[in-house]
Formats: sequence, C-alpha cells, structure tokens
Amino acid sequence: MAKVELGKKSREAQHMVVITDKFKNEFGLPDKVIAYFNSFLGQKDKKLLTYNYIGKHITIYIPERDKGPFHLAEHLRKQGSAVADAVNALKGKEVVIFNQTRQPAYSLWLSEGIALSNYQFIHHKKDAEKNKNTLESIVICGTGITQKQVEELNLLCDAVGKARDLVNEPVNVLNASGLASAFKNMGKEAGFKVEVFNKAKIQQLKMGGLLAVNAGSVDEPTFTVMEYKPARPKNKKPLVLVGKGVVYDTGGLSLKPTPWSMDLMKCDMAGAAAVGCAIYAIAKAGLKVHVIALVPATDNRPGFNAFAPGDIIRMMDGSSVEMLNSDAEGRMILADALHYAKRFNPELVIDVATLTGAAAAAIGTAGMVGMGTASTAQKNKLLHSGLTVHERIAEFPFWDEYEEMLKSDIADQKNLGGPYAGAITAGKFLAKFTDYPYYHLDIAGPAFLTAKETYRGKGGTGVGVRLLYDFAKNL
Ligand code: BES
Ligand code: ZN
Ligand code: ZN
Repeated sequence: MAKVELGKKSREAQHMVVITDKFKNEFGLPDKVIAYFNSFLGQKDKKLLTYNYIGKHITIYIPERDKGPFHLAEHLRKQGSAVADAVNALKGKEVVIFNQTRQPAYSLWLSEGIALSNYQFIHHKKDAEKNKNTLESIVICGTGITQKQVEELNLLCDAVGKARDLVNEPVNVLNASGLASAFKNMGKEAGFKVEVFNKAKIQQLKMGGLLAVNAGSVDEPTFTVMEYKPARPKNKKPLVLVGKGVVYDTGGLSLKPTPWSMDLMKCDMAGAAAVGCAIYAIAKAGLKVHVIALVPATDNRPGFNAFAPGDIIRMMDGSSVEMLNSDAEGRMILADALHYAKRFNPELVIDVATLTGAAAAAIGTAGMVGMGTASTAQKNKLLHSGLTVHERIAEFPFWDEYEEMLKSDIADQKNLGGPYAGAITAGKFLAKFTDYPYYHLDIAGPAFLTAKETYRGKGGTGVGVRLLYDFAKNL
C-alpha cells in the first residue's frame, strides 16, 4: 500500500492530480494546454480529465458538490482508484496532489482512494516483485492537512490492508491458530493485550457452540480476547467487538456446493479480521477508548465426528440448540462469544460476521445489513459512521415475530429460521445470548468481491475496519 506524505509543491512532479474548480496554472504549462483545460472545465458533465503532456501525466478533478459531502468523499475515493491505476500503468512511483480548492479534506479522501486501490495480494507468486505496483508515495501539497492526519490515514489504510491479507489467505495457510497468532503479533506491534484460549480452555469454559462447529475438524479451535485500555478512556464501560472467525466454511455435513459458494468461504473470518484490525488501528492511533475484541475461531468441516443436523448442543450459557443445519455455524460460535462478553459489563457490543447469504441476497455488495437492540443514539452514531466512511449499514427490522421462527419442539432454540428473513432470524438467534445493548452487522455481501469495485479491489475488502475506527473515534 502506498504511503501518504506531506510535501512541497513541485512543478517537476511526473504524475500529478489537480483538484480544482477553476484551474490555476501554477505549473508553467503553455497557454495551449491551459486553453484546453479551461474548455473542459466549462463542460457540465465532465468531472475528470486525464491528460498526458510531454511525459507528464496530469489528472484534473472537479469536485461534484451537488449531492452532498458523503457522496463527494466517496466520489473522490473512487477517482483515487482511477488515478492509482493510471499511475501504475505508466510505472510511476509517485503521485502529487495539488488541491486548488479551499477544502483540504478533498486531498485526504483522494489519497485514501489511491492508497486503498494500490493494495495487492501477490506474495504467493514466484515473481511477486515483477508484479508489484510501482506507485509508492502519494504526496499531498498545500496547507490545511496536518502530519497527524496523514499518519492516521496511513495507519488506517495499513489496518485495512492487514484485514484484506487475513481474508485473502486461504485456510491451508491461515487456520484458527494462525489467525490467533496474527492477532498476537498485531497486539505486540500496536500495544494491546492479546490472550488466546486453546481447546482445553474452551472446553473448560463449556463453549459448546464453538466446540460443536469444531468437531468435524482436525485443527483446534481458538478463542482470542484482545483488550486495549488507554489511560483515562472516554467510555466508562467498554465497547466490545465480536468477530466471526470461521477460517473456512465447507458447510459441514450440510455441505456447500463449490462454485460461487464454498470456493469463496476462506472469507468467512472477515468479521474476525475486521474487529482485530479495528482494535489494532484504534490502539495504534492511541484513541482514548476502552475496547475489547473477541474472536471465536475454527473451520467448519464434515470430518468424522462432525455434528449432525438434528444434534442438540449445550451452549456456554446453558441453553440448548437444535442444530438443524451445520451450515448455520456462524451463529453457534458467536453465541458463546456474546455470552462471554457479558462479564465485561459492556456499554455496547457490536458483532461483525459473514453470517447469511440472505443478507448478501437482499442488498448485494453495496453495504452491510444491521440490526439490534442498541439505543437509538448508538445506532445513529454507527449509521453515521457508515455514511462517513462509505461502509454503509442498511438497517433491517428486528420485530419480535422473527424470534418465533426459531422455536424448537425439543430444545430452547433451533439454529435455523423459516424460508424468509434469514438475515434477521440469524440476528434474533444471536440476541438471545445478550443482556446488554447490542448491534449485529452482517457483512456477507461486502466482505469479499469476486471482481474489482474501484478502491475496494478484488478479494477481501477489509470492510468494517474503517467503520469501527470512525465509530470508536466519535464515541
Ligand atoms: N458463511 C455463510 C454465509 C455467507 C454466504 C457468507 C455468502 C458470505 C457469502 C454462513 O455460514 C452460511 O452458510 N449461512 C447459511 C445459513 C442457513 C443455512 C440458515 C446461509 O446463508 O445459507
Ligand atoms: Zn455456513
Ligand atoms: Zn459461515
């Protein structure tokens, strides 16, 4: 990922982007070129012009302000993606941003888009070096941006890159223990506490849901507890984040088909990656918030002792679940983590999970599905963060009727709802294990892309990291 830095204006810059409403020629360009630019600036529908002038690659961008600030920020990030592609295609190492508007934030949004677009996951390739993007630095010129803002942007983009890496690594490289070790390393680097429970400890805690999902696997499960507690935090009670860490979801005995289904399921720990990398960014930035992140992790496989559809499982909270479908495993492991979260007396618990195909079917990759019992004020803050960073939340209803669909004749609950409202019944199942303000984020749609979508790239997107960071920052 390219680094953002502050720099002095230089006309010598090879690749440059000018954000402007009214082009000022600070670059010594000949009149002919300026006349061309100005003719372009007069055209209403044109917002981006890319121009090659004696080996100098110039992009001019006109802010589109009419649709509001959220739209504008996202538009700039997306343009950043086009800029990164153009500079890399020309084998450029550096791109310089000249901002001729009075809005310094425009440079940050554009930089964010460039940096996030420049992410690659190529380290498994023999000739990784040859395939590497040439772009290394994004230089912001002009005033209004502080070094601190630049550092924050870099560390956030880094955290997103880490989350993408974790998601993109397949299960033969990163199993539950590997995921826990990755968190351990991140804790050492950023300065937060990481404790990893092994199978014996998980058994001792009677985490029946996590153990049931792990039963068909040869790899041991892990349960990771991360805690970042700065001096004098703004929140008296901690914010607890819970991430689904199914390092691979075959569906278990309720086996998934391969194409466009099981073949994508290395992404089933994207929630875990999001919460782990969010706490990493929060700690690195030294935000004054007390945050705890919990990650139950295992693969879901149909091995010899795999739990069979119809099995009744005793959960950590003592309740029983009739497991009618072994592919509805995420809620089983999250339930124990949500029960475990009670001991922290949390102000709010947010879980992030690639939980249901139903969520993806409902709104696609454009956003995540949210629901829960959090207060209106808490929800509004979270939804606002979603708009700010463009990791938007579509709130679903959380009516009592959905709970009815989880009734079992022989256990306290079944892990399967009816044919409809699958994303919501999954959320209702989880809410049963909470006794605090709670919000559930289903990221099954946006967690993993099968085709590049501008700066979100192809593969793991790292969705949730920027959302949770912004939310914690504004607590
Ligand atoms: N990991 C899947 C959900 C998923 C689907 C994530 C697509 C990302 C993309 C989850 O464990 C699952 O299989 N859910 C089932 C639940 C059903 C059996 C009640 C589903 O959505 O089909
Ligand atoms: Zn599943
Ligand atoms: Zn799953």
